[in-house]
Amino acid sequence: MVKVITYGTFDLFHYGHRRLLERAKALGDYLIVGVTAEDYDKSRGKINVRQSLMERIEAVRESGIADEIIVEEYEGQKIDDIRRYDIDIFTVGTDWVGKFDYLREYCQVIYLDRTEGVSSTEIRSEKRRLKLGFIGESAVVKKFIRESRLVNGIETAGIRSNAVGRFDEEILKTEDYGELLECVDAVYIASLPQMHYAQIRQALKMGKHVLCESPVATKAEECMELFRLAEENGCVLMDSIKTAYSTAYARLLLLAKGGKIGTVYSVDATCTSLQAATEDSWNSICGWGPTALLPVFNLLGTDYCSKSIISHLKSEGYDQFTKINFTYEHAVATVKVGKGVKSEGELIVSGTEGYIYVPAPWWKTDYFEIRYEDPARNQRYFYQLDGEGIRYELVAFCKAIETGKNGSYINKGISEAICGVVEDFYRKADFLEI
Ligand code: CTP
Repeated sequence: MVKVITYGTFDLFHYGHRRLLERAKALGDYLIVGVTAEDYDKSRGKINVRQSLMERIEAVRESGIADEIIVEEYEGQKIDDIRRYDIDIFTVGTDWVGKFDYLREYCQVIYLDRTEGVSSTEIRSEKRRLKLGFIGESAVVKKFIRESRLVNGIETAGIRSNAVGRFDEEILKTEDYGELLECVDAVYIASLPQMHYAQIRQALKMGKHVLCESPVATKAEECMELFRLAEENGCVLMDSIKTAYSTAYARLLLLAKGGKIGTVYSVDATCTSLQAATEDSWNSICGWGPTALLPVFNLLGTDYCSKSIISHLKSEGYDQFTKINFTYEHAVATVKVGKGVKSEGELIVSGTEGYIYVPAPWWKTDYFEIRYEDPARNQRYFYQLDGEGIRYELVAFCKAIETGKNGSYINKGISEAICGVVEDFYRKADFLEI
């Protein structure tokens, strides 16, 4: 019996996939199809995949061509599979010519002509046409424009920003926010936090979807009002904290919540930079606060018993450094943020059996360790992080718009709690100045 194997993502199963599988099957008597897992796709830079692994497997199964379906989960798995399943022929489309010649040591390698005129990428782009506008003076706007070009179906349609400088000539550049909103389906906001509420409100009232750098507003009540408005107008409002979209961060949460370090008693997060807080830039509490608060609220919830905010203010409303202590019923948390003060930007989650350590800069999470008293039990985790998580965040934003389900990794409760902390800072509640 001649055994053939082929691999692919098979997103939005199309005619090209079917033809490839049919010809692969015709090469032998038994066809095994390897469908790529989400994490593996992400690690090889394929971020736009629309269907879940189960949906893609189902589509391959429904084609009725495969005799067996397996999941491809890691780099180097092909050699293991070829040996394990005693494969005679490995085959893929001609878009991979030469890439798998190294497998000739183990079996025959055949490249089949790719079907012209159809690809998952094209189907994705057609299905999703999102004109995205950008507003804000923060340098992060530039990064978002760059990253949005990697997401299938996003069209960078307009900008209101001085931070961007020269960019494509085709993009509308305007000083008028209303004009910007007119020509887009959605807007990414990275203006000063005090402007978020009015800008988000205006966008939502015009039926435009919004992705806004956290905090969404500087008052908890305003934040909730905006989420209500989004719902009424059938719009997506997403709080933007890129860390939430890193695979490593998501895994870290799952492991901690799954009891890997026992019961969590403490979360300590530090985020600092030497870029000082000035009148026209973000202060520490708004610039770093949401990111540092995220693991606290993700792991311990937003229902804390008490908190104290201790700040050094350079001028009114502009904190150079802030430390926030939270007390929960059975846990504590500390957040340290600074602009113009430097510290070790690490995250530590302490539990009854061990602790999770994320080295600096923890907010660009791609690596963490679970450490125990017996170092022999320590475990290290690494997950590829491309584009600081921004491109995954944009993919989630598009998906939320398309499905009508808010795919945000930051739920409304967390957004509200973040705005609540920012509000207390400004109104000096639970506050001490040093
Ligand atoms: N394939 C093909 N003809 C096409 C598209 C894909 O023969 N028009 C083959 C690929 O060469 C590969 C397999 O189908 O062997 C699975 O490809 P996959 O990457 O899942 O599909 P694409 O449509 O190429 O996806 P994308 O646009 O995301 O790269």
